[in-house]
Amino acid sequence: MPGITLDFANCLSDRVKEHGLTESDIADAKPRFCDLSDRLTSMRLKGKTAYRDLPHNPARSKHLNAIKAIVDHYRDKDIRNLVVLGIGGSALGNIALHTALNPLTYNLLADKDRPGPRLFILDNVDPHMVRDVKNYLQADDPEMKHTLINVISKSGETAETAAQFIVFRDLLQRFSGNRSAEYIVAVTDEKQGTMRSIVDSEGYRNLPVPDGVGGRFSVLSPVGLFSAAMCGIDIQALLEGAASMDEPCSEADLEKNPAGMLAFILIELTRRGKPNHVLMPYSNNLYSLADWFRQIWAESLGKQYDLQGKEVFAGATPIKALGTTDQHSQIQLYREGPNDKVIGFLEVEQFDGDVTIPASLEVQNLKYLQNATFSQLLNAEKRATEYALVESRRPNYTLKFPRIDAYHVGQFIYLWEVATSYAGLMLNIDAYNQPAVETGKKATFGLMGRIGFEEYKSQVDATLAPTDHLISCP
Ligand code: PA5
Repeated sequence: MPGITLDFANCLSDRVKEHGLTESDIADAKPRFCDLSDRLTSMRLKGKTAYRDLPHNPARSKHLNAIKAIVDHYRDKDIRNLVVLGIGGSALGNIALHTALNPLTYNLLADKDRPGPRLFILDNVDPHMVRDVKNYLQADDPEMKHTLINVISKSGETAETAAQFIVFRDLLQRFSGNRSAEYIVAVTDEKQGTMRSIVDSEGYRNLPVPDGVGGRFSVLSPVGLFSAAMCGIDIQALLEGAASMDEPCSEADLEKNPAGMLAFILIELTRRGKPNHVLMPYSNNLYSLADWFRQIWAESLGKQYDLQGKEVFAGATPIKALGTTDQHSQIQLYREGPNDKVIGFLEVEQFDGDVTIPASLEVQNLKYLQNATFSQLLNAEKRATEYALVESRRPNYTLKFPRIDAYHVGQFIYLWEVATSYAGLMLNIDAYNQPAVETGKKATFGLMGRIGFEEYKSQVDATLAPTDHLISCP
């Protein structure tokens, strides 16, 4: 089956002049890339990139079997609603898989037409979001006998997920009492952490966040796969797609390695004044993959210090946009504003199911639309935008999906994961930690009164003391 294609011709100086890379830039980079690829291989052998082994055995069959056993168990239980509680790497992949591979109207479909329960992924503590889902569930399933809670947290310490979990556990307990554990599936660390202790003491069914796999690299583990399987997504095909990318993404020859080339182009152009990386799918189904990309690119590469402890302030700003919608919102800026971006398009060659525009409206200026399909229009607009950007010397590339299915989404995910690893090496930073996120977490604990974090509250209050620099409106 043909796989996804990376077309980077529009990042080269032939097309975008001094804003692109030359053939000799690529030739010069090849020996350096060969070394990087060796370094990544040795990191893998030392278990530092455990995410790379998720699509392969033994991890693959271990996870698929464990997931299947739980999914089969609930198949007979008439589960109508699945509520996923998680945030960041414990939610963005789930949202991306579901948006990409299920109908956009999934939750509105009749039970017989839906391949699984309705899905609600609560990746925030917005009170309205929590209230509305809670109210919906109580109206649809007053005794909470058809609702499954899937709590995902490697640590169990994350305030957002913990707060949601307490709410939904409480709701279940009110109706099911001791049987509430039957309606909770946890995905967490196998050995340690707050969620692990809760799972062990309450006896929930559970699946692992595999050892050494960080949140944003975990979508191809039970973190992303369980809710996907519950909702009818072919998770085997997803892993097959990911596995098929291993060989090309391990190539020592930069010109044969799509992950290496993506990383090289984006990091090299960042060094040349283009630190804003837009991902613009021409597909609503693929739009949430841009959110997933934003996290992996931002949290992995945005680092103050390099591996030697030197201050470098590395990173690039990932931005999401949607074609064609954002042609009417962002493209003016992308073409005529600062030339500080690299724009990545996602294109779909063949949509499953298309809509033909009827020839029923006889208006001369609109005649060109008669009998055309929406996919023709969408892809013509993408090509036109690509042309317009090249015309303004704005570097851009295209990742083409032959079609939107689990196999190709798996390929896309693995491609970006490995590209992120290469980019981390190119920037000489640790792509797998997120030290800057900790300060905000600890300050939240302090503000919410967690014992041991009082000092953070005092520091927040002192730093953000009220001033008179305010303008209050009537
Ligand atoms: O990528 C990451 O590591 C983070 O986004 C985490 O996934 C996120 O903070 C949630 O953490 P946890 O799974 O421990 O609740």
